[in-house]
Amino acid sequence: MALLEILHHPDSRLRKKASPVNQVDERIQTLLDDMLETMYAARGIGLAATQVNVHERVIVIDLSEDKSAPLFLVNPELLAQSGVIEHEEGCLSVPDYYEKVTRASDIRVRALGQDGQPFEVEASGLLAACIQHEMDHLEGKLFVDYLSVLKQQRVRRKMEKLERLKRKAPEQANAE
Ligand code: NI
Repeated sequence: MALLEILHHPDSRLRKKASPVNQVDERIQTLLDDMLETMYAARGIGLAATQVNVHERVIVIDLSEDKSAPLFLVNPELLAQSGVIEHEEGCLSVPDYYEKVTRASDIRVRALGQDGQPFEVEASGLLAACIQHEMDHLEGKLFVDYLSVLKQQRVRRKMEKLERLKRKAPEQANAE
């Protein structure tokens, strides 16, 4: 397994729309494993392939505290949604920034698993919000897009400053 580089907002590659996966073959299985390892290493709860510059419809999620419940979603499709949940979100592509986002509280999704078999998952609360957040990535959309223009400008400036710091002194920026 390998750690992949995570793209950071406002990188334009985060805006690409991902293509469907034709076949869950060894390449995709390896991608899923690498994405999971990358997500765990970054202490995230979800990661979309778009974030590691692979523009295919692949998502990994694990909400457990002990890395015991990985969920692999290939070609996820939203079948149904209802309710409303407002929840504070963050994103590995927008480090150290959290804001409340409103999403559907209950969803049903169909996807292919790591074995290539189709399955359906019903999710509510945090898991529902997380799946919607990751599915947005596949459309080139970030959670900050839901915020006011003012907040979007603020977060963009913050990210650009972070990038500049990292280029100047990589260790210092990481420690922040
Ligand atoms: Ni994200």
